[in-house]
Amino acid sequence: MSAAHRCDRAVAWTALQGHYQAHGKALDLREAFARDAGRFEAFAVEAPHVFADLSKNRWDLATKKLLLDLARECGLEARRDAMLAGEPINTTEGRAVLHTALRAPAGQAPFSAEVHEVLNRMLAYVETVRDTAASGIRHVVNIGIGGSDLGPQMVVPALDAFVHPAITMHFVSNVDGHDIAPVLRGLKPAETLFIVASKTFTTQETMANAQVARDWFVANGGTDVGRHFVATTTNIEAAARFGITTTFGFWDWVGGRYSLWSAIGLPIAIAIGSEHFRALLAGAHAMDRHFATAPLEANLPALLGLLDVWYRNFHGFGSRSVAPYHQGLKRLPAYLQQLEMESNGKQVDLDGEPLPYGTSPVVWGEPGTNGQHAYFQMLHQGTDVIPVEFIAVKTPTHPHADLQRKLLANCLAQSQALMQGKATDAALGEKAPTASASLDPQTVARHRTFPGNRPSTTLLLERLTPESLGALIALYEHRVFTSGVVWGINSFDQWGVELGKALCNDLLPRLASGDTAGLDASTAGLLKRLTSA
Ligand code: F6P
Repeated sequence: MSAAHRCDRAVAWTALQGHYQAHGKALDLREAFARDAGRFEAFAVEAPHVFADLSKNRWDLATKKLLLDLARECGLEARRDAMLAGEPINTTEGRAVLHTALRAPAGQAPFSAEVHEVLNRMLAYVETVRDTAASGIRHVVNIGIGGSDLGPQMVVPALDAFVHPAITMHFVSNVDGHDIAPVLRGLKPAETLFIVASKTFTTQETMANAQVARDWFVANGGTDVGRHFVATTTNIEAAARFGITTTFGFWDWVGGRYSLWSAIGLPIAIAIGSEHFRALLAGAHAMDRHFATAPLEANLPALLGLLDVWYRNFHGFGSRSVAPYHQGLKRLPAYLQQLEMESNGKQVDLDGEPLPYGTSPVVWGEPGTNGQHAYFQMLHQGTDVIPVEFIAVKTPTHPHADLQRKLLANCLAQSQALMQGKATDAALGEKAPTASASLDPQTVARHRTFPGNRPSTTLLLERLTPESLGALIALYEHRVFTSGVVWGINSFDQWGVELGKALCNDLLPRLASGDTAGLDASTAGLLKRLTSA
């Protein structure tokens, strides 16, 4: 693919601009529902383990058709097939992008023999650790950052109902000692397994924390580093140099933020067991098949990615909020931030030419209902329109049916309120007992007006299980891929994190020496304050 496929040069792009001006800009969801009794059904999409209601989005069937035309003109299907076949679509690094091969049944994807050899070996190891009577392991500490942390850190609490009752999982990522210190405080070397998780085995934060962990282990009477430290990495030699003999490898065609399906998933597998880990892979594979085979009209990842383009490039919305109405998914927004913003936060096309249009939106959020009592005020009445993605799970794993009904009612109420809004006249007709009695009713009513017509998507899961979570994560991966293809960018590199790393290497010795020579005045001034006695 080259810039020749760039979205702004597509016929459908120009058509979408015209459609936006003529119909899209003024589309009112309340009128759209009033006009079309079948709108919910028309914009409902079934994918494996996930039902999506796309009807509360500011689009119509004509928008959808033009977006599908755009996807076809941008070569989405060919690009998807190239990814699945293992072509080097990560052009700036000359690599294939094959996280889908990690969850394919044996013999059904490239590198199957290697993938299943590591998977089987890793899952056999997992069962020996989970046998706490034999292993004595009661605490597992995953030391990794970014893609070597966020996936496992998100999945383990999400699947809490499946977690081994006698093993506590810990995650250490930050080079800030306030992260590892409280974890180590509660541990005993003989009961602890450290996983050093790093694709490159060079990342400063992870190497520094691994060193601290090993020093702590030895200082506290730990005797068998080989048994209590394992590595998950593509750099087996570096792990061996660190003194780690048990290593589970993966490959350069697994991007860090797409790696929870690889050996990086070891903490997940220890927590939920090999059978459930295989179910997580199977759920993701089911979504892969859907993405690979469903016609684009009914292809959920493709439709979500195209809606993202519609909002970002035509409506000009700069962010999207994710609100999982399931406490177990509390780390999902953080996980999606890396997945989406590290993948699609790019400013040049595949040929390195500057882009004249926006790419990744800011992705952010908190679980509901907590977010309702924090930032939802802005979603309802702020000056920016922010599409919201609600994720609801029908059947909980806890026995508190009343809490579940309240949670689901809140979730539905929020998307309803965002869409319906409240006119000033309606507010005027209501009592507002907490409003100041000294204000005139018109002023109070204006404060209590909601513009409405604020878009949202609701994703529904029957249950949060390894299968459905696998499918949900894969859905997000392919959605990010879709918008990346339309934008004509490389979603699989991350050059933007390099500059800060290089400057940190320059500043590190200066924090010891206090040397400020050649620094800009601000950095020099701050460094002086930080190093002064
Ligand atoms: O932040 C940059 C990054 O390279 C991420 O893409 C990656 O997930 C993270 O650092 C960790 O890298 P590694 O697994 O090599 O330690």
